[in-house]
Amino acid sequence: MSDLLPFTRLDHFAATKQPGDAALQVITPQDFAAARTEICQWPGYKPTPLISLASLATRIGVGAVLYKDEGPRFGLGSFKALGGSYAALRVLQREISARLGHEVKLADIRKGKYRAEAAKVTLVSATDGNHGRSLAWGCQRFGAPCRIYIHAEVSAGRAAAMRDLGAEVIRIDGDYDASVLFAKQDAAENGWFVVSDTSWQGYSEPPRDVMAGYGVMVQEICDELKQPPSHVFLQGGVGGLAAGVAAGLRQHWGAQAPRVVIVEPALAACLIASGRAGRSTNFAIKEETLMAGLSCGEPSPMAWQILSEEAADFLTIPDSLVAPSVRLLARPLPGDPSVEAGESAVAGLAALIAACADPALAQQLGLASDSRVLLIGSEGVTDPEIFGRIMAGSDVA
Ligand SMILES: Cc1ncc(COP(=O)(O)O)c(C=O)c1O
Repeated sequence: MSDLLPFTRLDHFAATKQPGDAALQVITPQDFAAARTEICQWPGYKPTPLISLASLATRIGVGAVLYKDEGPRFGLGSFKALGGSYAALRVLQREISARLGHEVKLADIRKGKYRAEAAKVTLVSATDGNHGRSLAWGCQRFGAPCRIYIHAEVSAGRAAAMRDLGAEVIRIDGDYDASVLFAKQDAAENGWFVVSDTSWQGYSEPPRDVMAGYGVMVQEICDELKQPPSHVFLQGGVGGLAAGVAAGLRQHWGAQAPRVVIVEPALAACLIASGRAGRSTNFAIKEETLMAGLSCGEPSPMAWQILSEEAADFLTIPDSLVAPSVRLLARPLPGDPSVEAGESAVAGLAALIAACADPALAQQLGLASDSRVLLIGSEGVTDPEIFGRIMAGSDVA
């Protein structure tokens, strides 16, 4: 039991996992390996820290809490740096190869050999911040024009971060899903290329590359751990992070892979709705969650293919847990290191603490004193103004 966060009963759905091998087929070991080979050569590449929160683990009654801190990733603030930028490079590879009539190498595009060709390939995407920042960063490095569509609620700070990387940022009325539609339509009308982290019928290569890029993070975790975690709590937006990590862990640890627990904001809970329905299902967002990166009403079908087989449990958390969790990480229990994290990063942590404070739920999730729980701290302080307000005591963005 713990009194670290206000007591909250979480919505829980225990899934009946579909049998299958999507974790090996949707993103193959070769897809992960190709992404790793490329990304690990980028300037500034360095594994991010895997932090043990031992005092917290003791306090909530589990054996270990391991927090993969993606804040320092390539100086971009989130794990998304691994996905959009790699997918951008792969789109450029396919398009430049087609235009020149021969296969060009990723490394040659990266080194600027095809800069003139890249300058003619405009890449676009919708984003709630972090994916767009990754894409803008990739376009800047590879020499391609970049257009980013953001919805009404994306903070000014996150928009500015993308403009600073040379992207043209277009703010539309409506929510995230509306911005995805807008990006698609504009691209179709202008001959631009969408680099999305979510798939749809007939569109699968960029989202697969995005998830393959996330595999770098998984490899780093597996390299550090001698034994598999018992659980991994994965926060979900469209599900790409969760699916990429779940597939990577399954490929690495096989039957010993950790139990996958999906965590979403109650305000944007399309994955738990899909779990309950037994198929990919949309969720009508009525109010924007503070967890901007998780504010998605429509699962990525490719991600759902993996999660329908890999996810054992789905949880939702109320926004009221977010700010106290950010503060708890930054001002930790004695003995634990301080971590500065953004609002979407703490969803897994918040759900774990709340679940451990509810004995019935902890039991349903198989959480016990020997559990070793992996959390993905998916972003650092991606919006300093919001972080400042939270640290000053505010519980709303
Ligand atoms: C910080 C952060 N965490 C988690 C996610 C969720 O990722 P996905 O949409 O792939 O589920 C996002 C997505 O933007 C994010 O920015």
